[in-house]
This record gives sequence, C-alpha cells and structure tokens, in this order.
Amino acid sequence: MKIAIDGPAGAGKSTIAKALAKKIGFIYVDTGAMYRAIGLFVMDNGLDMKNEEALRAALNQVTLDIGYADGVQQVYLNGENVTSRIRTEEAGSMASKVSAILVVREKLVELQQELGRRSDVVMDGRDIGTVVLPDAELKVYFTASSRVRAERRYRELLEKGVVDTTIDEVEADIIARDYRDMNREHSPLRQAEDAILLDSSEMGIDEVLQAMMNLVAEKNPEVLKIK
Ligand code: DC
Repeated sequence: MKIAIDGPAGAGKSTIAKALAKKIGFIYVDTGAMYRAIGLFVMDNGLDMKNEEALRAALNQVTLDIGYADGVQQVYLNGENVTSRIRTEEAGSMASKVSAILVVREKLVELQQELGRRSDVVMDGRDIGTVVLPDAELKVYFTASSRVRAERRYRELLEKGVVDTTIDEVEADIIARDYRDMNREHSPLRQAEDAILLDSSEMGIDEVLQAMMNLVAEKNPEVLKIK
C-alpha cells in the first residue's frame, strides 16, 4: 500500500507521516529531506541555479542515498550523512528554490518512485499524490493556517535554542515559501483531485494521527489487522 501526504511547510506532514508509518509498519519517506540535501549541495559548491546545463552536469556527479537507522530516515550526500545539516531554516529555503528546477525534480522523483516500488510507504512532500505516486491508495492533503504553522515552527526553533527570530518573521518566511511552492512551473504544490483535505489548525497530533488511522482502515483494513 502507498500513502501520499502533501501540503505546505509546517502543516505537520512529517510528524504525522513518521508516527503513522511506525504504527502500521511501513517505511517513511521524507522527500523534502532530499530537496534539502540538493539545496545544501548547491550552496556548498556555490553553483549557479540559473545555469541548468551546468547544474545537470553537477547533479550527475551527486550520489544521494536514503538509509534507515532505528526506523529514522538518514540522508547521505556523496557518502556524507547530512541528516542534521539539512534541518536549518536556510537549508529549507534553499530547498524551496532548487525544487523549482526541472533537472532537480527529475532526479529526485526517479529515486522516490524507486523507493515506492520497493516497499509499503508513507511518503510526504508537495507532489506525491499528483506526480510521484499518482496511484497511491490513500492521498491526504494536510493544511493549517499560516499563523498556526508559524507558531508550531517558532516553538520548534525555541526548543532548538534559536531565539534570534519572531513569530511574524517565521510566518512571513512560511508565506513566501508557500507562494514559491504553489506557483512554480514544474509540479507546483496542489491538492490532487482524489486527495482528502485535512485542516489541522484546530487539531492536536493525536487527533490527526487517529484521523489518519481511520482513513487507512477505511481504504485497506488488512493493513491494521496484520500489524
Ligand atoms: O518539507 P520540507 O520543508 O522539508 O521541504 C523543503 C522544500 O522542498 C519545500 O519548500 C519544497 C520542496 N519540496 C518539493 O518541491 N517537493 C517535494 N516532494 C518535497 C519538498
């Protein structure tokens, strides 16, 4: 079974996808992490994002591997484990920029589809239901107001010890990222026609997780029986 979760930044996709995958024994694939790793590569090597040919040549030299340690996805960029380095706001913003480039998307979609063929997956991103896994049995589009998403991100940043920002700044960044992700030419973020809309503005994690479990049970009760 394939489960596709899409939605804007900070809507809670990865928290829920990770917990759901664990509960039903599926592999969790975080596709945003792959775009973040490529963003890091472009940043580290000072590549010109406007030069598609040079970028294509450089990307051909990149090896991106996904592994799992205690069920947690690890991302290897040219052999280096970049799982923590990709988690900064800067890497997120860079990811949003490189993800608009067609050659980058082609490379990553191929890898994501291969992971989907290998096992039962819960995959989250922006184009999973529309492009990567159009035949997924369950598609959910997560959303929440930009203020609620900013509050969640801000709390996470404070927990990490980052205090040199305000909620308003975080919200402005989220709105800019939404705009870029929804208005790019290639595979813009949008709800697939057969995706279920889930607005978590007024819901807690446990409630969203339960709603997802109910959807899985509706689509494929076998999954819950076996686990
Ligand atoms: O989910 P995230 O914040 O880690 O994603 C980082 C960026 O990567 C996001 O702004 C848009 C891009 N992305 C994408 O274009 N397609 C995906 N399937 C996943 C992420």
